[in-house]
Amino acid sequence: MQSLAWNGQCLQLLDQTALPVKTEYFACHDYRRVAEAIRRLEVRGAPAIGAAAAFGIVLGARELAENHSDFWPGLLAVADELRQTRPTAVNLFWAIDRMMAVASRYSPLFSPEETLLALEAEAVAVAAEDEQSNRLMAGHGAKLFTEKTAVLTHCNAGALATVAFGTALGIIRQAWAEGKISRVFADETRPLLQGARLTAWELMQEGIPVTLITDNMAGWVMKRQMVQAVIVGADRITLNGDVANKIGTYSVAVLAKEHGIPFYVAAPLSTFDFSIKSGEDIPIEERGDQEVTCLGGVRIAPEGVDVFNPAFDVTPHALITAIVTEAGVLLPPFDEKIAKIRLEKGGK
Ligand code: MRU
Repeated sequence: MQSLAWNGQCLQLLDQTALPVKTEYFACHDYRRVAEAIRRLEVRGAPAIGAAAAFGIVLGARELAENHSDFWPGLLAVADELRQTRPTAVNLFWAIDRMMAVASRYSPLFSPEETLLALEAEAVAVAAEDEQSNRLMAGHGAKLFTEKTAVLTHCNAGALATVAFGTALGIIRQAWAEGKISRVFADETRPLLQGARLTAWELMQEGIPVTLITDNMAGWVMKRQMVQAVIVGADRITLNGDVANKIGTYSVAVLAKEHGIPFYVAAPLSTFDFSIKSGEDIPIEERGDQEVTCLGGVRIAPEGVDVFNPAFDVTPHALITAIVTEAGVLLPPFDEKIAKIRLEKGGK
């Protein structure tokens, strides 16, 4: 399963707003269409939007080269438009910065056509490295499960949310293959239902037993000892180990603490924001009222009601048992280990 694919000409995206009813890919020939797809959540999940934006830069660079436009100022505007799409997942900014670093090295010395080739190679590398990281993460994360375990997950941190294989669901896939997973409980994840529409579908495709619950059932499922672990993805991890992820993750972490259940986070190093000390500084996306007042296009709340619709929340590091990355499993205290990774990577 691929959330996105580059064919040398255009970016093919699996329309995640149509799942699970339709499995349809559409082509983006223009960076503006990529930006729109990120904004509309046709492509979503932190690593997937990073990779999509990287190819968006390639499409923008190609347009500038073909039109003989002023290359560098034009590319800055393309990057800016892609940066404006969604504020919380740091992978978006990480991928755009990585692409712009290549452009700034090449464009003063080489033609726009040559710079374009270097940009395409970089975007292909961003995508390939994401899949490699997920497979490494899966190997490390599966070791956390020593006996047959029922796990609960929130939102979708699977192949759909990445270039391929997934972070939290990648670990579940690997642990399942090793005979260590008995069942996955998937929170439906209101308001946009990534758990019901995407996680349940993705796991069923592979024959991994999945039980769908509404978000308010998680506490009771834990109380009845129906799950022994929680594993989720992340949109941004700060220097102290605080984790932004889909709204509702924080509530699940509090419930897991209360019931003595380990709470694991899985994310590639591209999800770490080494410039932010704690979760308090993470910008949280707020989305439109209609996502809360309507369900499947049908109005479920009175006209004119006030709505608060944050798309993400922050789980404090104290509630997290371990963070799994491609570099291994981080155990608390996280700040020292994250500082070490930052040093190894030469800062960001
Ligand atoms: O709003 P979304 O669907 O993009 O939110 C996605 C999540 O919160 C995921 O859990 C996160 O991006 C990790 S994906 C590997």
